Amino acid sequence: MEDQILIATERLVKHYPMGKHLFTALNDITITFKSREFTGLVGPSGSGKTTLLNIIGALDSPTRGLVRVMGQDTGTLSHKQAARLRSIYLGFTFQTYNLLPVYTVYENVEFPLLLLDMAPAQRKKAVLQALEWVGLMDKQKSRPSQLSGGESQRVSIARAMVKAPKIVLADEPTANLDAANSHNILQMMIKLNEELGTTFIFASHDDKVIGYLKRKITLTDGKVVEDARMDLPEGRNTC
Ligand SMILES: Nc1ncnc2c1ncn2[C@@H]1O[C@H](COP(=O)(O)OP(=O)(O)OP(=O)(O)O)[C@@H](O)[C@H]1O
Ligand SMILES: [Mg+2]
Repeated sequence: MEDQILIATERLVKHYPMGKHLFTALNDITITFKSREFTGLVGPSGSGKTTLLNIIGALDSPTRGLVRVMGQDTGTLSHKQAARLRSIYLGFTFQTYNLLPVYTVYENVEFPLLLLDMAPAQRKKAVLQALEWVGLMDKQKSRPSQLSGGESQRVSIARAMVKAPKIVLADEPTANLDAANSHNILQMMIKLNEELGTTFIFASHDDKVIGYLKRKITLTDGKVVEDARMDLPEGRNTC
């Protein structure tokens, strides 16, 4: 089966106001991502990785240029349509976790499923499976304020993965994890990539993540300076 283009950007530019001037966070980015990718955005802090992920995920809009997700130009969507696109196709793990503080771990992970038409028993099964993936079965009833940074990060990963989305946008997903948890979570992501064909787009500084990438896109000052296919480590199937 030929890989399908899931995301395409055309001449994407993002400016932020900075005093009397404009700061260019993304500078003319034209790029496509296909199904089954396991791709990383790398580059120095401030190079635009989070900005690009947020715009790809229709959480933020570009100053110029366009983004197509599943063939839809996200600039033409209403808030409601963009929310629906995200809820059907996209899972996010945020650099700052963005957990809902009044909800328990279980409820945070369940949250994306409430937007989908899913039977309660099926929903419960999916939440427990996601909590098991990230090793947090014993923290189901805790609230985010009672969690360590690494545990919060794992809740954010479980929430992104729970609906087995077609595309996962993962912003520094291992930044606060110890070696064992990073390893387990990466193995789980690789398995989903190989077995379900889930597309992963990471922003990462972590060599452990970078070592498993099929494709590495390097950003500097908001520009793509390199887009490279990677040799996969032994034991990793090519797709
Ligand atoms: N809301 C904002 N207002 C103004 N400037 C912003 C805003 N968001 C990001 N920036 C600037 O845009 C640039 C790119 O930020 P971004 O968060 O995309 O970087 P990054 O590559 O993800 O960095 P890191 O590796 O530190 O996470 C930075 O210089 C940042 O200060
Ligand atoms: Mg970032």
